[in-house]
Amino acid sequence: MKAIIPAAGLGTRFLPASKAIAKEMLPVLERPTIQYVVEEALCAGASEVVVILGNNKPEVMAHFSPAPDLVASLLRRGKDALAEAVSHAGALPVSFAHQDQPRGLGHALYCVEDLVRDERFFVLLGDVLVPDADLLVRMRALSEYHDGASVIAVFEVPLDQVSRFGIIDGTPLDGDAPHGSVTTWRLNDLVEKPTPQQAPSRLAVFGRYLLTPAIMAILARTAPDTSGEIQLTDALRELLRTEEIYALLVEPDEGFDCGTVASWLETNIRLAWRDPHLRAVVPAAGAVSST
Ligand code: G1P
Repeated sequence: MKAIIPAAGLGTRFLPASKAIAKEMLPVLERPTIQYVVEEALCAGASEVVVILGNNKPEVMAHFSPAPDLVASLLRRGKDALAEAVSHAGALPVSFAHQDQPRGLGHALYCVEDLVRDERFFVLLGDVLVPDADLLVRMRALSEYHDGASVIAVFEVPLDQVSRFGIIDGTPLDGDAPHGSVTTWRLNDLVEKPTPQQAPSRLAVFGRYLLTPAIMAILARTAPDTSGEIQLTDALRELLRTEEIYALLVEPDEGFDCGTVASWLETNIRLAWRDPHLRAVVPAAGAVSST
């Protein structure tokens, strides 16, 4: 199954840091966020990883390209571990597609329509990380259990954060999942960035989707929203008219939100707290660590 990683947004929540570099290049600890996402897809057995890039931000391609001079220089200085880390990033099998204008997540996905016309595919958004977890594998198992249906990952968020996310209205299917205790829902509806009063639940769409190719025909005719963006959520609502969609819970200690400066900072602290070499420099991190 192919994995599509849209990375062509304007990154407005991180301006001015994202003025000249893609926000997906901002580091979480020692790696840019997009490297975690690429590695997550490859660990789950993705047959191909395609990153969708916008204009004038060549650093994502550079990051996933070999850098033989840098590697040689590091080896000469005896910095073997760093040389290995640089070589590893440059050798990850990633290919690239192009979105010429930032017209929303739905529009970005439609740019790779020809790649996934006849097959289900993963979509991974770079503003959430699910490192060291088998979420995509569980999503694929859930999809197969339900005859190849689409599956989206959801994460419980506080009510004051629902307006940052797509929020689902789902019927719980406890006990229905192939992995025993995993909590799943069948979607009735979903709403993009509702107010707390409008939100049908606190279950937020958490940046991981397994989609059937039928979504592409819908995206082709999905109208832009009031801000001129074509929303994947609008296309998913339309897909619900003809296909079932399921939701799978991301456990609190699996998912890391990097979508805002505050959540990105908290993710850095939580992951530093997990790392024995860094834990000492974040002595107060236990206060925010949920693991
Ligand atoms: C997008 C989706 C939203 C989802 C979110 C996850 O929003 O439209 O449904 O909850 O990603 O991070 P964005 O953050 O691109 O505005």
